[in-house]
Amino acid sequence: MTNRKILLTEDEMPRQWYNILADIKLNPPLGPDGNPIKPEDLAPVFPMKLIEQEVSTQRWIDIPDAVQSVYRIWRPSPLVRALSLEKVLDTPARIYFKNESVSPPGSHKPNTAVPQAYYNKISGIERMTTETGAGQWGCALSFACSQFGLECKVFMVRVSFDQKPYRKSMMEVWNGRCVASPSNETRAGREILAKFPDTPGSLGIAISEAIEAAVSDPSGKTRYSLGSVLNHVMLHQTIIGLEAKLQLAKVGDYPDVIIGCAGGGSNFAGLAFPFVLDKINGKAIEIYPVEPAACPTLTKAPFVYDHGDTAGYTPLLPMHSLGHSFMPPPLHAGGLRYHGMAPTVSQLVDEGLLTPKSVNQLESYAAGITLARSEGIIPAPETTHALATVIEEAQKAKEEGREKVILFNWSGHGLLDLGAYDKFLAGQLSNFELPEGVIAESEKVFAHYPKPAHLKRG
Ligand SMILES: Cc1ncc(COP(=O)(O)O)c(C=O)c1O
Repeated sequence: MTNRKILLTEDEMPRQWYNILADIKLNPPLGPDGNPIKPEDLAPVFPMKLIEQEVSTQRWIDIPDAVQSVYRIWRPSPLVRALSLEKVLDTPARIYFKNESVSPPGSHKPNTAVPQAYYNKISGIERMTTETGAGQWGCALSFACSQFGLECKVFMVRVSFDQKPYRKSMMEVWNGRCVASPSNETRAGREILAKFPDTPGSLGIAISEAIEAAVSDPSGKTRYSLGSVLNHVMLHQTIIGLEAKLQLAKVGDYPDVIIGCAGGGSNFAGLAFPFVLDKINGKAIEIYPVEPAACPTLTKAPFVYDHGDTAGYTPLLPMHSLGHSFMPPPLHAGGLRYHGMAPTVSQLVDEGLLTPKSVNQLESYAAGITLARSEGIIPAPETTHALATVIEEAQKAKEEGREKVILFNWSGHGLLDLGAYDKFLAGQLSNFELPEGVIAESEKVFAHYPKPAHLKRG
């Protein structure tokens, strides 16, 4: 009988993260004067250790023992052969997924929340602030802060705050404090509320609030944390792909296709980057980040310099962006409602190493139901975007009669997203299109910003 789960022992867990900045070039982040920012400019926002990782070009970075110890609560995560899905689809493809839903908060997010809390703790920081879209990241940081005895405050995008009340409960169990964003607690929040009192909020606004709350703390003991987009976040997530490589080697397989959903890019990057290194070195692999058709950052938006947040507090980052004031439609995949994309992922798309795809909400939920009824796990709404593409690839393999190996990331479970599944099953969900004119509007703003160069490796 073929094994479903391919496991590693705790001792086999990788001891280093892979840093893709050793192998690609990035345009630098720019400050308000248009010049590259210096590491020390970020010191009020992040602890130095994380800033060093953000700019490091060292290929392998040690995972501290204290971080490995917390990782061991749920890691190494299982690599699962999706035998039941293969049967339902009657495909010759061999389909594998990394099950990142097994962490305490239920997603890949603690892979970076834990090291971020650790580096803050050893830098003498007492409190962390952050934003959360779907609530997964806020839960992950609350969990990580509770492991290291730090306080945590989370600005949760209003639409998700209302849709997912139990995410707030989870954060509170882990001693986090969660407020709906935009809130009255920051200047950025108050300004948005004055203009748009009924706004569903956005990740861009919540990021502005969380940065402001960190840098305006007079004690100087608060720092901000971001759950996606930045280089150090992608670095920490590579534990996913590094484990997957070891696990696939145990069964003598190697992927032809790699798929992950992409909001800010972190779970996708975590799985894909260790394999991108192989692709750079000549392996033939198709690598697909998948985003919602309603927030099509990689597939439709230009590669530009833009702010990571709505108020413009962050440096200008080189990325695919729909514009920092873009207000995404109230999709149920809250974690995929982000106007930008990780600079590393954006750069790899610009170089043609990744092939982005988009799927709509109904197609994604239909795929989520197929997977829940075959593999058993109820996927997070974000994850379902990857699943729709997995099904498409498996069906293509059948048409071509090819024994393709498909590897994807099961970024989280949807046990706190059941309201959305109820609506889908009752036929009450619909697709959202990107509103007309969004890209043309943002391009007017981008016209005033510097342009990133199209960099090549080597
Ligand atoms: C389960 C899950 N998957 C994916 C994402 C998207 O984020 P990222 O692209 O950084 O992995 C989120 C974000 O909240 C999430 O909760």
